[in-house]
Amino acid sequence: MRDGWLRNIEYLRISITDRCNLRCFYCMPEEGVQKLCHKEILSFEELYSIVKTAVELGISKVRITGGEPLVRLGVVDFIKRISKLSGLKDIAMTTNGILLEKYAKDLKEAGLHRLNISMDTLKEDRFKQITRGGDLNQVLKGIEIANSVGLGPIKINTVIMKGINEDEIEAFAKLTLDQPYQIRFIELMPMGEAESIEDDRFISNQEIMRKLPELIPVIKENDAGPAKYYRLPKAKGKIGFISPMSQHFCSSCNRIRLTADGKIKPCLHSNHEIDLKTTLRHHPEKIKDILIQSILSKPERHHLNDDRKSSHRRMYQIGG
Ligand code: GTP
Ligand code: 5AD
Ligand code: SF4
Repeated sequence: MRDGWLRNIEYLRISITDRCNLRCFYCMPEEGVQKLCHKEILSFEELYSIVKTAVELGISKVRITGGEPLVRLGVVDFIKRISKLSGLKDIAMTTNGILLEKYAKDLKEAGLHRLNISMDTLKEDRFKQITRGGDLNQVLKGIEIANSVGLGPIKINTVIMKGINEDEIEAFAKLTLDQPYQIRFIELMPMGEAESIEDDRFISNQEIMRKLPELIPVIKENDAGPAKYYRLPKAKGKIGFISPMSQHFCSSCNRIRLTADGKIKPCLHSNHEIDLKTTLRHHPEKIKDILIQSILSKPERHHLNDDRKSSHRRMYQIGG
């Protein structure tokens, strides 16, 4: 279905939990977050009926996010269920990879097509610092297993930050030489915890590209995502740049988001939210209308660069 700016909205991102088993310093407060109680979050039954209705409206791609989606029990069965919806062509997940060793095979068998994994460093000690305690080897093992069960080509999302991991740009890029990975550099956005650190830590993707002078542009394939892709000479994989700050991609936005507590967010950076949960629980027959309204209320673009105003929601509540 088209929104008010004639963009084709075909992609629904569902945050199934705001809990996470890591505490990345730019995303989660050190002490963790107050947990949403059971009744506040949408049940998998409710999520299923939303996805089913969304598919009737032309949504063909669903991404499951968190927090960390793999900490919610029942996610594999949920994927199994939605994978039977004809019309749903692409089911993907964004994860921090910690639990992949345990779940990759089940996810593949359940019908998951693709995985994007967040990993900001290739150094064990640094990973512990950035994530406040995480074990990089679990993620690396998870990536290996995910590849081996056929969940590749894996996309790896990396937020490069000044004074934290900017010395690893080349090392990340080199991962694409022998493996068909897609390494994607995401610009740090001033949201939540990152609001207070962003000025000091921000590096634009143009600066990162200057450190990789051999990059060759890749013609965009059918994938209308926010990343612009390049390749190192003879590399098997690709390097993507997601630049919400320096080159926003709102004119080609194709997505809406659903938060774990049942609000539709037509734009990542807007406070405009539509309460789908209340409607679903009291007037389930109206959820199609609410979804249509939500798509029609998508703003033309975000204004992060002009007034630095993002949503009051934190990244772990939206799932990126
Ligand atoms: P593909 O379907 O594989 O292209 O995935 P994706 O890029 O849509 O999903 P992913 O979860 O990997 O997104 C990567 C990151 O890009 C997110 O965590 C956000 O930081 C950023 N991003 C994704 N969508 C948007 C968007 O609509 N607006 C902005 N500003 N940033 C976004
Ligand atoms: N800016 C950019 N990306 C962020 N992420 C979390 N917080 C921010 C931020 N402030 C990324 C994570 C993960 C994805 C879900 O969102 O690194 O890759
Ligand atoms: Fe968890 Fe992802 Fe936030 Fe890190 S960035 S704390 S992995 S939700």
